[in-house]
Amino acid sequence: MSSRTVIRHGLVITASDEIHADVLVEDGRIAALATPHAQSWTADRVIDATGKYVIPGGVDVHTHMELPFGGTHASDTFETGTRAAAWGGTTTIVDFAVQSVGHTLREGLDAWHAKAEGNCAIDYAFHMIVSDVNDETLKEMDLLIEEGVTSFKQFMAYPGVFYSDDGQILRAMQRSAENGGLIMMHAENGIAIDVLVQQALARGETDPRHHGEVRKALLEAEATHRAIRLAQVAGAPLYVVHVSATEAVAELARARDEGLNVFGETCPQYLFLSADNLAEPDFEGAKYVCSTPLRPREHQASLWRALRTNDLQVVSTDHCPFCFTGQKELGRGDFSKIPNGLPGVENRMDLLHQAVVDGRIPRRRWIEIACATPARMFGLYPKKGTIAPGADADIVIYDPHAEQVMSAETHHMNVDYSAYEGKRVTGRVETVLSRGEPVIVQREYTGRAGHGVFTPRSTCQYLN
Ligand code: URP
Ligand code: ZN
Ligand code: ZN
Ligand code: ZN
Repeated sequence: MSSRTVIRHGLVITASDEIHADVLVEDGRIAALATPHAQSWTADRVIDATGKYVIPGGVDVHTHMELPFGGTHASDTFETGTRAAAWGGTTTIVDFAVQSVGHTLREGLDAWHAKAEGNCAIDYAFHMIVSDVNDETLKEMDLLIEEGVTSFKQFMAYPGVFYSDDGQILRAMQRSAENGGLIMMHAENGIAIDVLVQQALARGETDPRHHGEVRKALLEAEATHRAIRLAQVAGAPLYVVHVSATEAVAELARARDEGLNVFGETCPQYLFLSADNLAEPDFEGAKYVCSTPLRPREHQASLWRALRTNDLQVVSTDHCPFCFTGQKELGRGDFSKIPNGLPGVENRMDLLHQAVVDGRIPRRRWIEIACATPARMFGLYPKKGTIAPGADADIVIYDPHAEQVMSAETHHMNVDYSAYEGKRVTGRVETVLSRGEPVIVQREYTGRAGHGVFTPRSTCQYLN
């Protein structure tokens, strides 16, 4: 049975255009845009978007639903996390499946499919965390690419857990130069950081703020530099995740000036929060423990500038929530035992819209860094990330004038605090369609677990 929806009278914003147009949705896809407004279209459902923005659903390419980490696991399941994502105007997530040491990529991927299948409110895809580079896993990378898992995260941090040494990194990069995969790097010198952690603890420096102090900006920059040069030697593209330090941005900018296929993302926590939060008393700082860490406030300006100059291309959330009670508290008396990660999948589109309101980025750049480029970077475009005929009808009706106050009292993420508690922002999601199906209607949840499907990806569409 065919179904037709018309979205009337809104301002359609994509990465490239802003037009007053009506949007026709047919059978889950965008069928046509009409300007001036097409009075003649008939439809089963008419959405009035007068005074609202009509934007592509957000594409969050960095989430960790249910991630086992730090002796516990991330508190959002695929069900609760994708529902919260929809509330925040995100209609696609790319989550990280994990290969644990001693296991195959296949085992890791199967496990993540089992967690997600039938539970998601919105569409999802996977990257693969490669923790154990050997002849077999290198071959498996080729197979995963054929199944639409086309990007692979490696860690220069967390020795003994996810860590890869330079030789393992180089080998995976060489493979990706051949098979078209994209290596995503957690760039921090984890070997050096672990020495500084032990020294800090030995001095009795156990509070959350020391997490930020030992994970030095220079050690992010050094690892970023090393990752870039290893990728250059391998002839492979590189995407650096959760960039937080001025010095790391400088490494990326320099490599890009050299013409290398080097890309970077940052996350709202690095743009809006700082080391001041880590220093909050009474162990409250634990709420802000993630890696790379929140930096002193001065770093924010470099990140905003890089977003404007395209030295950073993507803003994702690195959504990896742990409750304060019972989870963050595992690290009382030893900051190194605080599970690393922040909630944010619901907040990203609104925080970046606030950056538009504040004049930090133009409206179309908001859509570019939150929807279009993440889709391109990870092979989902133009199915996801834009509003154009043929694209999936993943559409958000956004009220740019509504005021809201972010709070754990009102958010939908399964976590007992908000990293942005009390923050006032202008702009709010009103209605969300996922492949034409209403998931949020006038701020009522109408979606269902199992609507969202696994979405295979092509290889990176963003190369120079
Ligand atoms: O602290 C963080 N970022 N936790 C999630 C895992 C990672 O490194 O991305
Ligand atoms: Zn009209
Ligand atoms: Zn990471
Ligand atoms: Zn992450």
